[in-house]
Amino acid sequence: MSQNTTPVLTIDGPSGVGKGTVARIVAQKQNWHLLDSGAIYRAFALAVDAKGIDIANEEALGKIAQTLGLEFKTELSNELVSVYLDGKDVSKILRTEKTGEMASKIASIGVVRDALLKRQKDFAKPPGLVADGRDMGTIVFPDAPFKVYLVASVEVRANRRLKQLQAQGSKGIISQILAKVKARDKCDSLRKHSPLKPAKDALIIDTTGLSIDEVITQVVALIEA
Ligand code: DC
Repeated sequence: MSQNTTPVLTIDGPSGVGKGTVARIVAQKQNWHLLDSGAIYRAFALAVDAKGIDIANEEALGKIAQTLGLEFKTELSNELVSVYLDGKDVSKILRTEKTGEMASKIASIGVVRDALLKRQKDFAKPPGLVADGRDMGTIVFPDAPFKVYLVASVEVRANRRLKQLQAQGSKGIISQILAKVKARDKCDSLRKHSPLKPAKDALIIDTTGLSIDEVITQVVALIEA
């Protein structure tokens, strides 16, 4: 079934806004599939790094994108979906700040985005899909019937990231996290190809003063309206 007949909910927004958590819980509630598109860019960045490919070599990047052995083990009841790259579980390293930064850089290359497009579209399967990322509503699923764009101030997002790190037993320095969040916003929003921006028909939700449950209530109401 194509994307036209499968209902798709797109959730876009900047780093640290809570897209992943909202997407996972809504997918679980609706019993829909889940696409964490950031994980695809992260895994791609890991593969390029492991193979020592120069990111200026667009031909080599295109080839890797075509042959990327990527597998998601979608245990929706788990905290995170497990990701396998060429048969190896890379879930932990995938979520690190360093991998996120590499992904953000490599995701600005047009040939990479084009090569990874079909892979993302293929996630749209019955009974439905929740897709989170930066360009889900604008480029990957422009005809999606349900589109959400989450925003929150950079300070709130940096604080959420700090709490996440602390919950994992790691330390973080708020000024450094803030600088990183700002740098990532800049890289994702100012790039030429598929920059981070809301689709014209997206519902914009400012999550600054909202709990995850309150955001989820608004998103589910959109689908059920
Ligand atoms: O959502 P995330 O932090 O896992 O994404 C990591 C990087 O991947 C993000 O900074 C930019 C890139 N990305 C993208 O360009 N387009 C997407 N749809 C998802 C992620």
